[in-house]
Amino acid sequence: MDQKRDNFSSRFGVLVAVAGSAVGLGNVWRFPYLVGENGGGAFILVYLLCMIICVPIMISEFIIGRKGRANAVGSMKRLAPRSGWNIIGIISVLSSVLILSFYSVVGGWTIEYIIESVKGSYLNLNAAELTSNFAILTAKPFRPAILSLLFLLVTAIIVSAGIKDGIEKYSKILMPILFVLIVVLAIKSVTLNNASEGLRFLFKPDFKSLGGKGVLAAMGQAFFSLSLGMGCIITYGSYVKDDENITKMSFMSSIADLLFALIAAIAVIPAVFSFGISPDEGPSLVFITLPQVFAQMPFGGFFGFAFFFILLIAALTSSISLLEVFVAWMSEEMKITRKKAVLYSTLILSVLVILCSLSQGVLKDFLIFGKSFFDLFDYTTSDILLPIGGLLIVIFTGYKLKKDIIVSELTNNGTLKMNNTLIDAIIFIMKYLAPLAIIIIFISSWL
Ligand code: PHE
Repeated sequence: MDQKRDNFSSRFGVLVAVAGSAVGLGNVWRFPYLVGENGGGAFILVYLLCMIICVPIMISEFIIGRKGRANAVGSMKRLAPRSGWNIIGIISVLSSVLILSFYSVVGGWTIEYIIESVKGSYLNLNAAELTSNFAILTAKPFRPAILSLLFLLVTAIIVSAGIKDGIEKYSKILMPILFVLIVVLAIKSVTLNNASEGLRFLFKPDFKSLGGKGVLAAMGQAFFSLSLGMGCIITYGSYVKDDENITKMSFMSSIADLLFALIAAIAVIPAVFSFGISPDEGPSLVFITLPQVFAQMPFGGFFGFAFFFILLIAALTSSISLLEVFVAWMSEEMKITRKKAVLYSTLILSVLVILCSLSQGVLKDFLIFGKSFFDLFDYTTSDILLPIGGLLIVIFTGYKLKKDIIVSELTNNGTLKMNNTLIDAIIFIMKYLAPLAIIIIFISSWL
């Protein structure tokens, strides 16, 4: 079985695939709107603190995956046979399905804005018109659903090609280009009229506007953005070779992810203030703000096209990692071919994607626990399932795996030199800081 499993072909390949999974709509679409909704600077500060616990969680996932050498459920079964711990695997598969359902919808919106850029249709609209334009586009019954399904289909095609030919190849080139484009946008945004108000909002923490819910949202976003707590890094870790430095990889991809998110916020929030858009506009924020920035730039239509196109690629390198969790589980645990697993999972997901898409229009008033499908899937995963998954993962690594195993995984069986203080710090965070922080944040959000 092990012989047949695909591996990442190079060190650079894994790093790019993990960073590719992390960097996506979470950074460019989700982070800026959450910053806007939760009072700016204070949210960012809590987010930065959450990163400290997240890096060891990522390392834990790598350890579980590389040691288990199987999908999320399979890895847990191997490391802790006949125990309740494979709940981690089950949560993982469930989260991947729910996230991919609404993620595909935002992927569909991204495709819509690529088309809008080609048509140049947003270049002459003001803030109010752009807001209503977004609402009209996303509330239609067919078009957004079809574009979301298209996004899912492309994801499925890449995943069915397997690890080396699929995931790795597509991840490599476009990330740096996206980074440059966002930096250009950020520079444009901070030079707009009134941008300083946005910068103040970003960098002057106002804790009164944050609250327990905001802190939970910051933690959930950290998990979401780093693709943690749902078996994604376990699954990718299972393809990582034994001589790879997982600590370094976790640090590097987390830093890349953080940079993308911060710069995306600098690209969006000052523009929000400059154009008089309300920062708590929600999921539409990026789609109603950035088009106005493009409109103010020379060759704005082309720039907008390039931006949304590459954002789409970044979204795909994340969505393939989500689908991979589901497909690896289905094919290995149900013993069916990879192609069949892709087919069945895509069929199941299609139904959920359509529901999420329709919940922006036709099914707007169909609420479960007061939330539409889209919001419900988003909320239950980021604010509940991912932190619980992450909590169980660090508790498992910190308490169930022997310290020798952790140390041997961190140092590649002693072949890699690593500072003892760093090892101790990582284990300390796994055992004490991370579980405690997650539990406290949960409790404080209920108060
Ligand atoms: N991290 C991805 C993003 O920021 C989304 C994602 C979440 C991918 C969970 C995999 C797992 O867009």
